[in-house]
Amino acid sequence: MSTNYLNIEDIDGGFKIISITRPEALNALNSEVLNELNSTFELLLGQESGTNGVLITGDGEKSFIAGADIKSMIGMSNAEAKDLSQLGQQTTLLMESLPFPVIACVNGFALGGGLEMALGADFIYASENAIFGLPEVKLGLIPGFGGTQRLSRLVGKNKAREIIFSGKNISAADAKEIGFVNEVFKDKDELIEAGLKTLKTISKNSIQAVSQAKKALLEGSDLDLSEGLKIEADIFGGVFELEDAKEGTAAFSEKRKPNFKHF
Ligand code: CAA
Repeated sequence: MSTNYLNIEDIDGGFKIISITRPEALNALNSEVLNELNSTFELLLGQESGTNGVLITGDGEKSFIAGADIKSMIGMSNAEAKDLSQLGQQTTLLMESLPFPVIACVNGFALGGGLEMALGADFIYASENAIFGLPEVKLGLIPGFGGTQRLSRLVGKNKAREIIFSGKNISAADAKEIGFVNEVFKDKDELIEAGLKTLKTISKNSIQAVSQAKKALLEGSDLDLSEGLKIEADIFGGVFELEDAKEGTAAFSEKRKPNFKHF
């Protein structure tokens, strides 16, 4: 697939680094970038894509994504703005449903739609220079790519209210303390290295099982406990139809390493 705003690097082991590359606007997301991300995620959705894990990052050192493209939103009608919001939300939904781990590696600015994209990943790593925030209210807007929904589910409603109402910048260290960043690394090189190391560690396990655990977390996380547990039991049952469950349990009893199906 040819892309103007994404640099997609294949890494040995079935991994990909997807870099948003729009330096003239600090990697801000206009509809072209969002459409390219959507098409890329749709391609990756099939198991046949041969992917074991993805890092999402921003090209360069200064910015992950500086938000939705503000200039292209000037004068938008109600319907156009709603379409843009749904396009951005669709991108995060596709990212969330990919059948392998996705880590957002945040270097520099992750503001507005940038933080919202990162929240669509399975978890977030950051470099020390990362700056997070949902500054939409400073523009007379609200977060539109999932920020009002995902941030509150992750850090709690009151913390999310403070972040969204104030529009304030949050350092990488504070984001880790609040709980929406897992780890902070010195610079971009260390960030990417750590992201790949984690993907490699995960891929030693059954990616089929990781994918099903991801599904259980996603489908159950917003339900009450009893409904969530039903989903877990259904998916746990379904896993026994998969080859890796047979292989993993047999390997344990035969005291050998499992030979999981990898891409
Ligand atoms: N949209 C469009 N262009 C952007 C942009 C954005 N979100 N962020 C930066 N740019 C452009 C700037 O306009 C500038 O272009 P020109 O040189 O052509 O003027 C270029 O990128 C470099 O930016 P700055 O000169 O501003 O760089 P800086 O280092 O001085 O400041 C910054 C960096 C603090 C990130 C500042 O650019 C900024 O505040 N950007 C906007 C951040 C923001 O408000 N994001 C939320 C957007 S709304 C949203 O995301 C809605 C939603 O939820 C869907």
